[in-house]
Amino acid sequence: MEERMLSGELQGAEANEELSLRPEKLDQYIGQDKTKKNLSIFIEAARMREEPLDHTLLFGPPGLGKTTLASIIANEMGVQFRMTSGPAIERAGDLAAILSSLEAGDVLFIDEIHRLPRSVEEVLYPAMEDFCLDIVVGTGPSARSVRLDLPPFTLVGATTRAGLLSAPLRDRFGVHSRLDFYDNTALCSIIERTADIFDVVIEKSAAAEVARRSRGTPRIANRLLRRVRDIAQVKRENSIGLETAQQALRMLQVDARGLDHIDHKLLLGMMDGFKGGPVGLDTISATIGEESQTIEDVYEPYLLQLGFIQRTPRGRVVTPMAYAHFDREVPEA
Ligand SMILES: Nc1ncnc2c1ncn2[C@@H]1O[C@H](COP(=O)(O)OP(=O)(O)OP(=O)(O)O)[C@@H](O)[C@H]1O
Ligand SMILES: [Mg+2]
Repeated sequence: MEERMLSGELQGAEANEELSLRPEKLDQYIGQDKTKKNLSIFIEAARMREEPLDHTLLFGPPGLGKTTLASIIANEMGVQFRMTSGPAIERAGDLAAILSSLEAGDVLFIDEIHRLPRSVEEVLYPAMEDFCLDIVVGTGPSARSVRLDLPPFTLVGATTRAGLLSAPLRDRFGVHSRLDFYDNTALCSIIERTADIFDVVIEKSAAAEVARRSRGTPRIANRLLRRVRDIAQVKRENSIGLETAQQALRMLQVDARGLDHIDHKLLLGMMDGFKGGPVGLDTISATIGEESQTIEDVYEPYLLQLGFIQRTPRGRVVTPMAYAHFDREVPEA
């Protein structure tokens, strides 16, 4: 797979730096007002009852702040934050070990929870419902099941799409929260907050430019800001101005709407090869050499949000808006 500036993956120093950018309390978490308001009520009520928060499912495209929100929930509840991920838990015993090491009230965060193996998922059901573990001891005819009590805890699960979860797992979450793409105002605040942490000054117009090109995603906003900061530094600019921001974004090949070369490849591939569609997901996948699931989870949500593609029963269709973005005529039907 090609390296992608706008991808969700971070490595090394930047991954560590991302940790330091994470807001710790709900009121530092910018945007997502509806989710924040609901959560603050549920958290307050749980605290008043001195009970753990209900199991909470967070879903939405990568980089919108699911992990951040999960750790904020632990902070707000005043409990420990334990973090793991679906692919990291291979066997039922692994999950049993994690669950039995929890302390009362802890938040257990399982990222990419849709990737838990089925046999592991089954251990989770009684744990979520009744705070207990059913363990089989012995083998053959003498095998029997023993029930172990667990301390009450809160499971916070994150996934890119709620629809990827099995129904029995999904139904065991009391709170379901969908995170949406951020609007430009929220992204500007996030960029200004990050600039503050970086100890750099960014002009309003420059912050707005970075925001517009961040695909509604805080992680991308922070990432673009890092590169803009690099260029400002080399230019010995004290306050990051609009021109510097634009120069950096041009260098990164991020266009005016925040689309990068993979988005271009996808849209142009559909325009050139299929007259704009309808094209099936698997065909798109084969054409541009990206996995269907990645297209569906990472690239497509923002293009749908922009109104550049539409989903139809016969496949994806490029819209007239996308043709206009590329200064092209919509082909005759
Ligand atoms: N609401 C917010 N306010 C301020 N900063 C935010 C907010 N949401 C996310 N961020 C920033 O964006 C970065 C990415 O967020 P986070 O890692 O929580 O995303 P994620 O949804 O868990 O992504 P993934 O699905 O890829 O795991 C964080 O380091 C944080 O700095
Ligand atoms: Mg995450």
